[in-house]
Amino acid sequence: MTVKISQTAEIQKFFEEAAGYGNDAGSPRLKRIMLRVLQDTAKIIEDLEVTDDEFWTAVDYLNRLGGRGEAGLLVAGLGIEHFLDLLNDAKDAQIGKTGGTPRTIEGPLYVAGAPIAQGETRMDDGSEDGVATVMFLEGRVLDLDGKPIAGATVDLWHANTKGNYSYFDQSQSEYNLRRRIVTDAEGRYRARSIVPSGYGCDPQGPTQECLNQLGRHGQRPAHIHFFISAPGYRHLTTQINLSGDQYLWDDFAYATRDGLVGEVNFVENAHGIEGRVAELEFSFQLQKATSADDEQRSHRPRALQVQGA
Ligand SMILES: [Fe+2]
Repeated sequence: MTVKISQTAEIQKFFEEAAGYGNDAGSPRLKRIMLRVLQDTAKIIEDLEVTDDEFWTAVDYLNRLGGRGEAGLLVAGLGIEHFLDLLNDAKDAQIGKTGGTPRTIEGPLYVAGAPIAQGETRMDDGSEDGVATVMFLEGRVLDLDGKPIAGATVDLWHANTKGNYSYFDQSQSEYNLRRRIVTDAEGRYRARSIVPSGYGCDPQGPTQECLNQLGRHGQRPAHIHFFISAPGYRHLTTQINLSGDQYLWDDFAYATRDGLVGEVNFVENAHGIEGRVAELEFSFQLQKATSADDEQRSHRPRALQVQGA
């Protein structure tokens, strides 16, 4: 059997040095993770006989990926973000934290600080009137016994008819299609908005470039993102993916899950609107928090729009 160079004591010691094991400064946690990254990278290079050209192409790719701000998109497309959900589900199951609305990926397009409304609001700025189908979305936030949670915050965001999100698409008004709605005494939230479109990765971007090499498309079904939170309850990050979309169960980011399909009902001349109107009802069930940390969303870096900017 050939000795693997990457596994020799000499090389392992070399990577320990590169990961900062020879000094007392820095972060022991990061050192430990970095050592593993270096060791596993070396192993991949050796085992798969990665050529110098392939290696430097990958380095260039990372530069371009970061330059376009698409790292968050790539981790969704490669299923790593969905894997984190599966891993957290498994950990929850082990400690009996089960039930309620399933979690699913956040994606990279949340913007903190959306306007807050009590009970109900309109989410769109009217700029797609006549183009978009008006959507009436409502539902309740409930506990695992089905009792309403008053004062819960439903923080939701979705794309416009072109599949673009405000803030990232500077042609849209500030916080268009982004709102926080505080539930009423019955745990209810209501929103008038527009039916979002699904979207795809930028065909010219590095994420799609990678997916092309994997023979995969980069399309997502139409969907609405949610953070649901309430004092005493576990924070929920989820999405509802809309029924009838061709990519509903063929989502490049693997966000669609059982229990998260929103059934869109089209009606004519309702809610004071002429013509076709979409209705969507979706309620959420939250687990009880067992610690203060449970009530918080993850601390991943997110965009924060400066008012008036
Ligand atoms: Fe999205």
